[in-house]
Amino acid sequence: MSKKDFSRREFLAVGAAVTAGCFLSRPVVAEKKAPALTLSRCDEIRLLQFTDLHLFAGISHQPEISEVQRRQTIDDMRRLIDHTRPDLLVITGDFWHENPDGRGMEFLNFSVEKVGGLGVPWVFTWGNHDKLDDYDLGHKALAAASNSLYGGTLESRGDYITPVLDGNGNVLLELFCLNTEGHGVDAKIRLFVRDAVAKEAEDFKRPMRMGAFHIPIRHHDHVWENGRARGVKGEPVCFEGEDGSALSAFKEAGIQAVMCGHDHTNDYSGRAEGVELIYGRASGYNGYGGETLEKGAKLYRLDPARSSLHWESVVPDGRRWNPGPTERRLIDS
Ligand SMILES: [Fe+2]
Ligand SMILES: [Fe+2]
Repeated sequence: MSKKDFSRREFLAVGAAVTAGCFLSRPVVAEKKAPALTLSRCDEIRLLQFTDLHLFAGISHQPEISEVQRRQTIDDMRRLIDHTRPDLLVITGDFWHENPDGRGMEFLNFSVEKVGGLGVPWVFTWGNHDKLDDYDLGHKALAAASNSLYGGTLESRGDYITPVLDGNGNVLLELFCLNTEGHGVDAKIRLFVRDAVAKEAEDFKRPMRMGAFHIPIRHHDHVWENGRARGVKGEPVCFEGEDGSALSAFKEAGIQAVMCGHDHTNDYSGRAEGVELIYGRASGYNGYGGETLEKGAKLYRLDPARSSLHWESVVPDGRRWNPGPTERRLIDS
């Protein structure tokens, strides 16, 4: 992507429930809640998505290059945070890379230490390359790490909901953090989402809800193919085993937008049945695709009072990009 492609434009307005200030929402199902993020203000929530960091990829056959790329990735994460001042980091999978010689836990420990050291609260959703020998240990290490709000367990199979609260304890946002494992959104996830909202009272006023997970859904492909998406596409949408029924589960749960990763050279969004389907910007130099699409991160600015969100992809020197209403481009990869 060339520099001239970068511009700032208002893009997305989800919903229209306008209120004058903070609003009250009660938590839905307490036992599914992970640790909450509490903000001192209620007018804006800033999420910064890192995806596909792939730390330690290449370590077996090119250890020196792998280390250089790892350092560059972590340095640029810090730069991206400096440019965007997020409230919460959302790491949507392929955080580390595989489990060669049983080293997955070592890679996890390194990764969480580095992210914890960035000084910003963070959550994590599992990617298909985040491999370990002992996943129970992994869940516990993720939850115990510095600045972590990770709430997954072996029992929940890594699914959890992170509430974002204002200073009075009102729920501004519920972030559904979902583990798509290697096969995408499946019946287990659909059940988790439906279960989480099944006990809502009729008069319950839903807060903003977003989903975060690694593998896109089938409708990420549909919105591109039917011309409703804007952004850039460099490879096929790998929704793996998702059968097309995830979208209705999200819609019924009041999830207004979802963010994913997995396909490193796709960066676009499009709306299907009222749900905005968004690709993050791949972040890790250890992962493929940097020659096609510059590595970076994605900043989301949410206005809970208006249920609106705006996203921009950001690169380490601070340039930002959000596609215009008709901007859609296939890129060679
Ligand atoms: Fe990846
Ligand atoms: Fe992946």
